[in-house]
This record gives sequence, C-alpha cells and structure tokens, in this order.
Amino acid sequence: YHGLRLWMTEWCATWNVDLELVDATDLDALRAAVHRGPTSLVWIETPANPTWDVVDIAAAAEIARARGARLAVDSTVATPVHTQPLALGADLVMHAATKALNGHSDVLAGALVAARDDEAWQRVRHLRHVQGAVPGPFEAWLLLRGMRTLFVRVGRASATALELARRLAAHAGVERVLYPGLESHPGHAVAARQMQGGFGSMLSILVRGGAEDALRVAGRVKVFLRATSLGGVESLIEHRATVEGPRTLAPPNLLRLSIGLESLDDLWTDLDEALRAR
Ligand SMILES: Cc1ncc(COP(=O)(O)O)c(C=O)c1O
Repeated sequence: YHGLRLWMTEWCATWNVDLELVDATDLDALRAAVHRGPTSLVWIETPANPTWDVVDIAAAAEIARARGARLAVDSTVATPVHTQPLALGADLVMHAATKALNGHSDVLAGALVAARDDEAWQRVRHLRHVQGAVPGPFEAWLLLRGMRTLFVRVGRASATALELARRLAAHAGVERVLYPGLESHPGHAVAARQMQGGFGSMLSILVRGGAEDALRVAGRVKVFLRATSLGGVESLIEHRATVEGPRTLAPPNLLRLSIGLESLDDLWTDLDEALRAR
C-alpha cells in the first residue's frame, strides 16, 4: 500500500533504520534480501493494494525465521474472515481497522496482534502506552458494533466481488481484471491455499485505453462512490494514480474498486454502463 510504503521509507530514513523494498511474491528475491544484512523484521502485505499481489505467508515466515527475523503481515484486505496469518507462522498481524473490521467508513483505528507475549511485544505495548495511540471510547464502541457483523458483511462483499470480477474479465471495455479469486491472477494458486471462504472485496480493473478513459469511467458511475478507503458497506471507485500522485507505481488506467453490500445487479449495471458509454 502506497501510504504505508511512503511512511516506512520516511520513518526509516529519520531513525536510521535500513530498509529494503522487495517484491515478496518472488520468494527467492525475499530470501536474498534478508540475507544481504542483519534483518530483524520482514513486513509483507497480502493481498497487496492495488494489484492484489499475493504473498505466500507460510513461506515468508520460514524465510524470516531462518534469519532470526520476525514476520509481520498487513492482512487488512484479506480480513480475519479469509486469512489467519498467525496460524500460518506470522509473528505479527496488522489490520487497518478503519476498513472491513469497522465496515462503516466512520472510524480511524488499527489493530496489531502478536503470536506471543514476549519481550518484543511488551516493548510495542509500552510504546503505544507512552505515545498515546489509543482509540477514544466512542471510536472503540463504533468499532465493536461494526465487528458484530464482520463475517456476514465480508462474506457477502467477497461473493459479489468474485462475480463482478468474472463478468468484468469478459467485458470489452476492460483490458484486465486484477483479483486473486480469478484463475488468471498470478497469485491465485497461493491465494486458494491460504485464503478461506473467499478472496476479499477488493479488485482493480485496467480500463481499455489509458488514464483519460479510466477517469471518464470513474466519472460516469452512479452507484459506486468516488472515494478512497475500502471495506465499507458502500462500494467505492477510484483512479489510483491520481490519488497516489507523482510517486505512484499504479498503472495509469487502473481503477480500484471496493465492493460493498449493494445488489450485485445494481453494481454490475453501473459498471457496465460506465464502461460502454466511452
Ligand atoms: C492495506 C492497507 N494497510 C493499511 C492502510 C492504512 O489505513 P489507515 O490509514 O486507516 O490507518 C490501508 C489504507 O488504505 C491499507 O489499504
């Protein structure tokens, strides 16, 4: 995720921590990276925003462990419904609780979960305590209320996303659909192994043409809302390169879709009409 990548880059530069960015879908590249110097933490994101690349968590955990490093997984997009990274060998799991855990786009929060209550975890807890990064009571209440429906919401949104991905893959206005639930996605085999009950509610489409065509499609939808964020009850669409700015790695014709709880037919008709009207 672009925001986290920028934050890590700036934070590590400020605090003089060596950081190496590597494509962790390539396990040989990951192994080579952790052996280039002392490594204390391997941080992966799967499926990864906004191309939904899938990293093999169990294999990454083994690579990290062999080097005496911890593996942390940003599992925001998979949600606890579809993936349990600790069971696959991860040491830490992070969720932007702003997203599916809360599910209603009205809370900013995060969750960090550790496999063991050891000295390193106590240091993290101490840092949180002294730095004060704790949610207020109202935010905590909203989050708990949202989480009561987590499994129902995520199950439904993921099922809708899969069906939309299949239909969009056959659409003349779409060059390519990126969704780990499609067999055409390079991460599908690993996703099928490490995700249960679905592949999440996030997908991206590469619109046939270029950035202008993608922006026109995003400008035409009526059911999808044009907004960033993800994992809420409303479906969202955004032109990722515009949102990320000049340092983006997103393809110029990529539209990111977060699927919510609206009717499948309404969402499909909306996208179909927006893609046809070009
Ligand atoms: C995968 C992933 N991780 C982390 C974040 C950060 O979320 P927040 O800004 O709500 O803390 C996001 C936000 O889009 C995300 O997509």
